[in-house]
Amino acid sequence: MAETNDFLRMEGISKSFPGVQALQEVNFEVTRGEIHALVGENGAGKSTLMKVLTGALHLDEGRIILRGEPVEIHSPSDSQELGISMIHQELSLIPYLTVGKNVYLGREPRRRIPGFIDWKKLYSQTQELLGQINLDVRAWAEAQDLSIAQQQMVEVAKALSIEADLIAMDEPTSSLTDRETEVLFDVMRKLKDQGVAIIFITHRLEEVFEVSDRITVLRDGRHIATAPTAELNHNQVVQLMVGRELDNMYPYSETKERGVALQADDLADGQELHGVSLELQGGQILGVAGLVGAGRTALAETLFGLRQATAGEIHIDGQVVKLHSAKQAIEHGLGFVPEDRKLQGLFLNMAVRENITMSSTSLVSNFGFVNTNKANKLADEYVDKLDIRTPSLRQRIRNLSGGNQQKVIIARWLTLKPRVLILDEPTRGVDVGAKAEIHGLMRQLAEDGVAVLMISSELPEIIGVSDRILVMHEGRVTGRFERDEASQDMIMHAATGGDNNAS
Ligand SMILES: Nc1ncnc2c1ncn2[C@@H]1O[C@H](COP(=O)(O)OP(=O)(O)OP(=O)(O)O)[C@@H](O)[C@H]1O
Ligand SMILES: [Mg+2]
Repeated sequence: MAETNDFLRMEGISKSFPGVQALQEVNFEVTRGEIHALVGENGAGKSTLMKVLTGALHLDEGRIILRGEPVEIHSPSDSQELGISMIHQELSLIPYLTVGKNVYLGREPRRRIPGFIDWKKLYSQTQELLGQINLDVRAWAEAQDLSIAQQQMVEVAKALSIEADLIAMDEPTSSLTDRETEVLFDVMRKLKDQGVAIIFITHRLEEVFEVSDRITVLRDGRHIATAPTAELNHNQVVQLMVGRELDNMYPYSETKERGVALQADDLADGQELHGVSLELQGGQILGVAGLVGAGRTALAETLFGLRQATAGEIHIDGQVVKLHSAKQAIEHGLGFVPEDRKLQGLFLNMAVRENITMSSTSLVSNFGFVNTNKANKLADEYVDKLDIRTPSLRQRIRNLSGGNQQKVIIARWLTLKPRVLILDEPTRGVDVGAKAEIHGLMRQLAEDGVAVLMISSELPEIIGVSDRILVMHEGRVTGRFERDEASQDMIMHAATGGDNNAS
């Protein structure tokens, strides 16, 4: 292979953290004008490799060769000067700044008079970038008023504003809808045609096959394979990622119905929810499908007492309950794994152990004092059950990979042994192996009699996991299906407002 053609080569990259060898002698190369997918399980080292490339982390060993020259990258501004830009896995916009200020933060266009920022230029250039990516947002809107998906697209605009010829995108699509993802792919293809090299990290293998030219697989911090996408199929990639054959993604077993555990009649919140009724049996998984903005999260939050119901009733085990807080919901046997784990669920500076056990203080305390042995035992049990990859129970959550953070928050709710468990996009950002584990776990919970309500935007997951399916559109139920009668087409039809079986 003509080595001189290589635009970027990372050679023998090693990086360790206390207790974790995150990267071990990894070789990785990218050429101009290609979209190179970087895949691997949660914790495989993908983000770490990109952070080394963009100067957010320092490598322990190895070297980086860019355009044929060894380069030293000590900080993100070093990498920007070398024409590298990065979209981070964690959204990094500053909430109270405008979109334009966020996009050009630290690189504001200047007027000819030294020291003065050219605001007009800043906003007009931003608006133009937003237009390029089809984002209907004003450059002077505050970042905090944007949806997560819009913020993600602003991150894309920011990466474009640097006019880099190498762009690393760390899970840019994880919170995008299909339509936004397609827009992003169009942008990526355009950049590629201009000779830009793109490194694309995602857990959705369909996306890898749709858009990438080559694939590199990492596993446990090591380089496993690099090959043209056309030479690999889905199963081969999965096998390279997990190092074994994966059994059934959607373990299904018919469960006994055990009476209605959760019932909602004509529930409304005066805003996003307009008369939603549902029934969920113990021992069953109800999948809630719909497009972004359909009111699914509003439904979950109302059921859990985080939003006030303005009309309708909620029954738990046949009794009408009025929930005004999460605390009351928990007392009634409800659990809720929220969609945005960073904002609502995890205490990033606290250890894995505390994050798992904090809700169940009664289980791990004696007379009000936390008993470390009990806490360790409980945390250990769930680290084991969910296969959470962490060097120790004392590791801070901040240092776990994204997917493992998600497992910790699920573990916390499981320790409470809820009667009804609501999960909002439980496998977002989770790798294929862990996804199958979480599905298996949900099925196990159902077998133990728990009523599970799962919101998901992935139709294969909805169809594969659920006993029954409810589809929402603009705050109303537009479809109800039994497991065997639902197809992706039927669900999409209902999700876009077409009415069927909605009675
Ligand atoms: N700052 C840190 N301190 C300690 N350990 C870390 C730190 N950053 C990452 N790690 C560890 O390094 C390993 C690789 O993590 P990394 O974030 O690169 O994984 P990833 O492939 O991006 O996973 P995901 O798909 O979940 O995002 C993990 O075991 C993680 O816990
Ligand atoms: Mg990552």
